[in-house]
Amino acid sequence: MMKIAVYPGSFDPPTLGHLDVIKKASSIFDRVIVSVVENPNKKATFSKKERVRMLKKMTKGFKNVEVDTFKGLLVNYVKKKRANFIIRGLRAVSDFEYEFQMALINKKLNPQAETVWFLPFIEHIYISSSIVKEIAKYKGNISCLVPEEIVEDIRRKFK
Ligand code: COA
Repeated sequence: MMKIAVYPGSFDPPTLGHLDVIKKASSIFDRVIVSVVENPNKKATFSKKERVRMLKKMTKGFKNVEVDTFKGLLVNYVKKKRANFIIRGLRAVSDFEYEFQMALINKKLNPQAETVWFLPFIEHIYISSSIVKEIAKYKGNISCLVPEEIVEDIRRKFK
């Protein structure tokens, strides 16, 4: 059976931490679908189109990774894609409670899909999209926080 994994997130913007997770997933699963969703609890800075473009640029070298978007419930999207895994990144204990709850609910709604967590590499564990945006807003150096292919896209947004 093909191992198909969906990596959902807001990716507003994507970071080196996200790239770590994508790299690890790409080496384990047959197909990885990185999918951008609007989280209604957050106001996005980048449009969905911009986030997809950045993700495509930074994953160009991975043959089994594709980029997509979805609306509505993750479990429905996972079913539609015939995926059997949901990927999430875990950075710190503070991520755990939310991730744990989400994984259990998703499992209840779609028992066929298993949630798998990856740790980013230790040097990227502190990165978040909000931190990247704050540094970019004040013209700080973001090149150690996001993949080089998208540094200019982010800088341009805050000009
Ligand atoms: N490296 C760096 N940062 C990371 C990271 C990593 N590996 N993993 C997570 N993060 C950060 C993100 O940058 C983001 O930072 P921010 O808060 O500063 O923006 C934060 O962790 C969480 O973002 P994300 O992983 O995108 O999660 P989310 O909470 O925005 O969205 C979804 C989670 C998309 C999976 C969830 O909302 C969802 O499934 N939505 C669809 C509707 C649904 O099915 N709801 C029921 C779910 S039970």
